[in-house]
Amino acid sequence: MSNERPIGVFDSGVGGLSVLRELRKQLPGESTVYLGDEARMPYGEREAAEVVLFTRQAIRWLARNADPKLVVLACNTATAAALEVVREDSAVPIIGVVRPGAAAALSATSRRAVGILATRLTVRSGAYYRALRDLDPLVDVLQQPCPKLVPLIEAGKARSDEARAAVREYVAPLLTEGAVVAPGVDTLLLGCTHYPLVRWAIEEIGGPSVRVVDSATTTALAVREVLASHGALSRAASADHRIVATGARERFRAVARAMFTEDVEVEEAALA
Ligand code: DGL
Repeated sequence: MSNERPIGVFDSGVGGLSVLRELRKQLPGESTVYLGDEARMPYGEREAAEVVLFTRQAIRWLARNADPKLVVLACNTATAAALEVVREDSAVPIIGVVRPGAAAALSATSRRAVGILATRLTVRSGAYYRALRDLDPLVDVLQQPCPKLVPLIEAGKARSDEARAAVREYVAPLLTEGAVVAPGVDTLLLGCTHYPLVRWAIEEIGGPSVRVVDSATTTALAVREVLASHGALSRAASADHRIVATGARERFRAVARAMFTEDVEVEEAALA
């Protein structure tokens, strides 16, 4: 791994910017190239085979156009459906967000009862269930697909009453389902990188005894650990950041501006 090469970050849309922000915070010397497949999102409603194909195309695009030393799949759906397959034929090392997310949830839960909020495909893949049970075979895991959230967030409605109502519909059953004690789960994991944008509603409805965690911090830590242990941390004095989207550049730019409080240029690319 050559140290000054960038870290590639991939998501189906803007959600992975929440992971990018954490990477930039924890690894300020690292250059990044972010690719969002805005034109073909949401991935969460697609078939696994399609997500494997798109993820493979994205990794190939990053390899050709950015020469990254490492790629972060900053998308739970792509990680859940494609990481294992794509990793096998990729020359670039890849880190996903599911394992770091599972680790974050297990460090937060005291009653060993975790609720996973994720896209339909992530829930169907069982990836979180397996990752959590690998780390703690006794942990209780309740999974909830939340298909309305990504479209609302991408439509700029993350702070709306509509978002609050959708979150209530998804979160309320996890707090009561089969519960001997209330709330049923003591930790909610944001198993989709878009959901930090509706964290406010999830915290409001979960209430004070429920912890809400995401995979951004633990993923950035995992990246730092891997780079450090391979002597591959950048020694550059400054870092470059590129953001590339496959469509809807202006909306992308607006969200990026809101998240980073800086104006970023969004380049356009086509994946094939
Ligand atoms: N941000 C993606 C994830 O983490 C999902 C968005 C989508 O459905 O495309 O799962």
